[in-house]
Amino acid sequence: MAVEKRIVVGASGASGMPLLIKCLEILQDNEEYRSLLVMSRSAKLTLEQETDWSVSQVEALADEVLDPDNIGAGPASGSYRTEGMVIVPCSMKTAAGIVSGYTDNLLLRAADVTIKEKRPLVLAARETPMSEIHLRNLYELSRMSNVWIVPPMMTFYQKPESIDDMVTHLAAKLLSPFGVEVKEYRRWKGC
Ligand SMILES: Cc1cc2nc3c(=O)[nH]c(=O)nc-3n(C[C@H](O)[C@H](O)[C@H](O)COP(=O)(O)O)c2cc1C
Repeated sequence: MAVEKRIVVGASGASGMPLLIKCLEILQDNEEYRSLLVMSRSAKLTLEQETDWSVSQVEALADEVLDPDNIGAGPASGSYRTEGMVIVPCSMKTAAGIVSGYTDNLLLRAADVTIKEKRPLVLAARETPMSEIHLRNLYELSRMSNVWIVPPMMTFYQKPESIDDMVTHLAAKLLSPFGVEVKEYRRWKGC
């Protein structure tokens, strides 16, 4: 039997919860991958503010749910094998915690481990407008070769017909560094 590839899916308290849901749905549909979900307290609050989903409904999409206070969970150690981590959405507070190595919860510790083990770390960093502080932190992170800064920015070249189309396109981009293929994702073919 093939071993599932573990992807740590972190969520912090920025806007963009439909993207978290879509990423989990894509991974759930893909037998090759196993999702390990870590949601911060603010992520749970934001989820309830901007969607009709409950925390337990979102958790049910994941293969494993990890308590953000459980600093002893698998992804807190580099010897625990994962394909990497996506943080969707990624708040400016979490970005600041990552860049400064301030690992006071499992979300931050798992990101820190992902960086030190040189595995892909994808950040759906979201705030608008971004201040000099936000941009400086994201710039520092972007200089690390295994870190992808993928702000959830709208695109129109794929001619989305719905918000769901837009969300799927963004989720596919977020999961692309892990080799996850999304059939609905329309890659640019050139003019
Ligand atoms: C509805 C809602 C939307 C928010 N959107 C953002 C956002 O887009 N970006 C951001 O950096 N913070 C946003 N925040 C603020 C963060 O949730 C807050 O800074 C929190 O402390 C982040 O904690 P965490 O990174 O540990 O999840 C939002 C808060 C709420 C309640």
